[in-house]
Amino acid sequence: MKINQFISLKKYNSFQINAQGRYFVELNKRDDFKTLLHEHGDKYIFPLGEGSNILLVEDEIEALVALVNTKGIQIVHETERYVHVKIEAGEIWDEVVQWAVDREYGGIENLTLIPGKIGAAPIQNIGAYGVELKDSLIACEFIDKSTGLFEEVDNTYCQFAYRDSIFKNELKNKVIVTAITLQLSKEGHHKYNTSYGAISNHLKEHFSNEINLSTIREAVKQIRMSKLPDPKVVGNSGSFFKNPIVDRQQFELIQKQFPDIVHYPVAENKIKLAAGWMIEKLNGKQLTVGGAGVHPKQALVLINKNNATGTDLLQLSQQIQSTVFEHFGVQLETEVNIIDQKYTCQL
Ligand code: EPU
Repeated sequence: MKINQFISLKKYNSFQINAQGRYFVELNKRDDFKTLLHEHGDKYIFPLGEGSNILLVEDEIEALVALVNTKGIQIVHETERYVHVKIEAGEIWDEVVQWAVDREYGGIENLTLIPGKIGAAPIQNIGAYGVELKDSLIACEFIDKSTGLFEEVDNTYCQFAYRDSIFKNELKNKVIVTAITLQLSKEGHHKYNTSYGAISNHLKEHFSNEINLSTIREAVKQIRMSKLPDPKVVGNSGSFFKNPIVDRQQFELIQKQFPDIVHYPVAENKIKLAAGWMIEKLNGKQLTVGGAGVHPKQALVLINKNNATGTDLLQLSQQIQSTVFEHFGVQLETEVNIIDQKYTCQL
C-alpha cells in the first residue's frame, strides 16, 4: 500500500479547489480497507469517492485521504420479480444506473446523473425526481474503523431520511462504507415513478408518453442537464443546501409574507420549502465572493466561477444563510460536507 504525500486534490473534488492532501492512498481491492486500518489506523483517515459533495476549505488536508476505487457489480440473489445486486464502493453511481437500465433492472433510473461513487450514496441517501436510494437499498456493508471488521446491516439500521442516515449521525466518521446491495425490479414488475411534475411533462412532450426505464432515464438526464451545471465544466457540488423542513405553523407565517413560496407537504405537520426559490427571491443569484458565485439556472447550486478558494465558497454560503434567515427566519443547513480543520480532527 503506497502512501503518497503532498498531492493536489484539484481533480479529486468537483468544486475543483486546489487543496493539497498531506497523505494520499488509493484503495483498489477489498483487502486494502483492512490493510489501511491495520497499518495506518492511527492517522485521521478521510475516505474519498468522487469528491462531489465536499467543500475543501483548508489549503492542506492533514488527514490521510483514501481514494476508494474498489470495483464490482454482482447479482447475489434472483427471483422472478427482482434481483439483488451487490456493488462495491468505488463504482461510479451513474455507471451503475446505466448497467441496471441496460439489463432492464428498475428502481434507480430516476437517480441518473447524480455525481459520486457508490460508497457515498447511502451516507446522504441520495435522491432526485421523486426517488431516493432508501427505496431500493436492502443492505449496506462497511468496515468499522475501530475494529477493522466488515459488517453488513439492513435498510432499517441505516435510519434513512431526507438527505440523512445513521452515517451522518451515530456512525459519523466511525465506519467506511465498502459496498451496498440494491433490490431492483425485473421486466414486468417495474414501478415507474413519473410523479415529479417535470418528468411526466417531459415524457409527453419528447417521448410521445412512452414510459420505460430508458425514456425515464433520458428524460431525467435532459431535465438535469438543462438546470444543473456539469461539474467537469463549472466546479460545483450540486445542491449546496438542503431544502428546509418547517412546522405548518411557521410555514403559514412565512406564506403570509411570501404567498407564492414553493413548498411540499412531507408529513401531517411538516412542510418542505424550496431553498432554491427562497435564495432566488432574495436576489441570491447575483451574489459573489471572490471567484465563487451562484448558478444562474439553480440558486441552490454554488459554483466555482473563477478560481474560487474554499473560503470564497464558504463565505458565500454563509452570506446566503444569513440573508435567508433574516428574511424567512429559516436556517439553511448545508448538504455539502464542509471539510475544514474542525472536521478533519474528528476523523
Ligand atoms: N426554484 C426556483 N429558483 C431556483 C431553483 C429552484 O424558483 O433558483 C424552484 C423551482 O422552480 C421548483 C422548486 O424551486 O419549483 C424546486 O426546484 P428543483 O426541482 O430544481 O429541485 P430542488 O428542490 O431545488 C432537489 C434536490 C436536487 C434534485 C432535485 C430534483 C435537494 C437539496 N436538492 O432540488 O438534488 O436533483 O430536487 O429532484 O433536495 C443534489 O442533492 O445535489 C441535487 C441536485
